[in-house]
Amino acid sequence: MEVRPIGDNKVFLDMDPGIDDALALTVALKRMNVLGITTVAGNVSVDHTFQNASHVLRHEGQHVPVIAGAKEPLFYPLLTAEHIHGSAGLGDYTWDTNDVPVPPDDAWVWLFEKLRQQLQPCHLIATGPLTNIALLLLAFPTVLNHLASITCMAGGMPGAKLDKAAEFNVFVDPHAAEAVFRYGDHLQMVGINVTHRALLPIADLPKLKRYGRVGGLLFTLLSYYGNKSRGEGGDPNSFPVDDVVAVAAVDAPELFTWKTMPLTVVLEGRLRGTVILSPFDTNRPEVKVASDIDVPDFLDWFWQSFEL
Ligand code: RIB
Ligand code: CA
Repeated sequence: MEVRPIGDNKVFLDMDPGIDDALALTVALKRMNVLGITTVAGNVSVDHTFQNASHVLRHEGQHVPVIAGAKEPLFYPLLTAEHIHGSAGLGDYTWDTNDVPVPPDDAWVWLFEKLRQQLQPCHLIATGPLTNIALLLLAFPTVLNHLASITCMAGGMPGAKLDKAAEFNVFVDPHAAEAVFRYGDHLQMVGINVTHRALLPIADLPKLKRYGRVGGLLFTLLSYYGNKSRGEGGDPNSFPVDDVVAVAAVDAPELFTWKTMPLTVVLEGRLRGTVILSPFDTNRPEVKVASDIDVPDFLDWFWQSFEL
């Protein structure tokens, strides 16, 4: 794959860092014009996701606004993933201070105002539970005029061979995902049917140490995360970097094969969080769903990000 020039995509990120979110943030900063970050409760509490995003930016010398969002899903109590991401969300990495004050949770209001101020529509990439995105779309439907696309790392393509019935982001807040899927004509979904194929070999992680402070932090975080999530995707020597794949879907959509289909979500019971085809009588706009990915070219794209 030829070395791609840095894109000039203007993008806002909604994340729940979380180690793979931190990696996705780093790659997005290298490849795009990141205008702002909203954080949501998911992998860990919204206070931790806010602090983690702020600390990663500070560590990487980046000055991008971060705003805290929803503290819990729309209806269900919050479920978190400290067993994978660590008690504070970034493995056992501890920052010298946790002095970052967490402002009130009105991220969707802030995001709407910022999007409206832009001269052209921007991309929005969501890599956590879709609570903030649902609130944004439901409270401010005219926001669609200011969005070039909404890309979410969520779910799994209906009909695809999946290694789990429900993906974490949709399982945590299925009602938010259901609301967002109603805006299918603005939405592209990158699910575990592709992210659990785009696996990072653990043996490749030492390559990160070539890239200074940023690479050093990522080596520490991904060594922890790889140890916790190895085998997801079926290879005990690799692990998925789900959220980075959503960044690739905006920066390099040609790495993917896409299908369109109307989607809804199982909201409760044993299949809570499963993404399914919407019944055809709902006239639901079709979502653009990633059905395949060129894994070697994705990995080239990923490692090239650190050369930029
Ligand atoms: O299922 C993977 C997703 O859940 C990723 O976004 C990961 O960060 C967690 O939020
Ligand atoms: Ca995430």
